[in-house]
Amino acid sequence: MKIAILPGDGIGPEIVEQARRVLEVLRGEGLPIETESAPMGGAGYDAARDPLPPATLRLAEQADAVLLGAVGGPQYDVLPRELRPEQGLLRIRRALSLFANLRPALLYPELAAASTLKTEVVSGLDLMIIRELTGDIYFGQPRGRRKSAAGDDEGFDTMHYSVAEVQRIARVGFETARRRGRRLCSVDKANVLDTSILWRETVSALAGEYPDVALSHMYVDNAAMQLVRNPKQFDVIVTGNLFGDILSDEASMLAGSIGMLPSASLDARQKGLYEPIHGSAPDIAGQDRANPLATILSLAMMFRYTFGRADVADRIEGAVRRVLAQGHRTGDLAMPGERAIGTRAMGDAVVAALRGG
Ligand code: IPM
Ligand code: MG
Repeated sequence: MKIAILPGDGIGPEIVEQARRVLEVLRGEGLPIETESAPMGGAGYDAARDPLPPATLRLAEQADAVLLGAVGGPQYDVLPRELRPEQGLLRIRRALSLFANLRPALLYPELAAASTLKTEVVSGLDLMIIRELTGDIYFGQPRGRRKSAAGDDEGFDTMHYSVAEVQRIARVGFETARRRGRRLCSVDKANVLDTSILWRETVSALAGEYPDVALSHMYVDNAAMQLVRNPKQFDVIVTGNLFGDILSDEASMLAGSIGMLPSASLDARQKGLYEPIHGSAPDIAGQDRANPLATILSLAMMFRYTFGRADVADRIEGAVRRVLAQGHRTGDLAMPGERAIGTRAMGDAVVAALRGG
């Protein structure tokens, strides 16, 4: 189990450190875990003037799985686009062909009150967003800046999907739904966009191969509304890169805090990059305030999807459940009047829970 660790920027190193302690416990129990770290994002720029230094990419290519903290920070905003931290993330997704991004939104019962939505709307929530990650307007060509005929400055991007790209992500959607509640909702904007019309046709054409899965379609604006109106109507959502980016941030709030949500980005052979869906939170970096649970839960996904060790994943998730049940809360989870603990203390609690069970 060769794991490349890319702590990144902001709170990245602190939260990844807590995940690393979880790996230490598992290694101590005999799991053949090997880890090696490398800089990426702003840290990559600082170390090698490149948000994805060649040596970091090589390490990630050679590893079985990658654990990423978060990238980005205000000090890098002045850099040209190709040197910004986010470019490192986009490039590693492309370079490793990580086309399937799994973003579960699961509400732990103890956190129902932390959601901004009413408890009855979110309690029992368990939905999976499957976001295509290597196509769409994120990577479509041509893109850039130009002058219009009238001499105006313009910016432009290209939304793009091929049938093959839609088919492979749709299959991940159908197969995931098959292992869960057997309902798949494909989200697009087929009332306006040609790309979405092709998307919808392609997903619909596959439905015959999955007669056990109930397929529905929804426009993205309606999906955004339905997610806050009645999120429990969803089991699995499959959607493109841009819509998935937006809807997954929205869904994270249903789960109480964006600090709780892990993600997996997988290639066709279950190699994966695992990261919390939250960002680098530069405003609280280095203050021992960040919630490490999304990163620890990302490790659980790594054991489930890349290493095929659902037993280990269950144990990690069980340990997180236990610390929440014991009342441990980082600042993002604490309700008014509740005591908040720090990043490291939360890591201590998870390690203790893991050892205990
Ligand atoms: C995410 C992030 C990235 C994205 C950014 C940092 C490039 O928002 O992983 O959701 O847009 O994909
Ligand atoms: Mg995002």
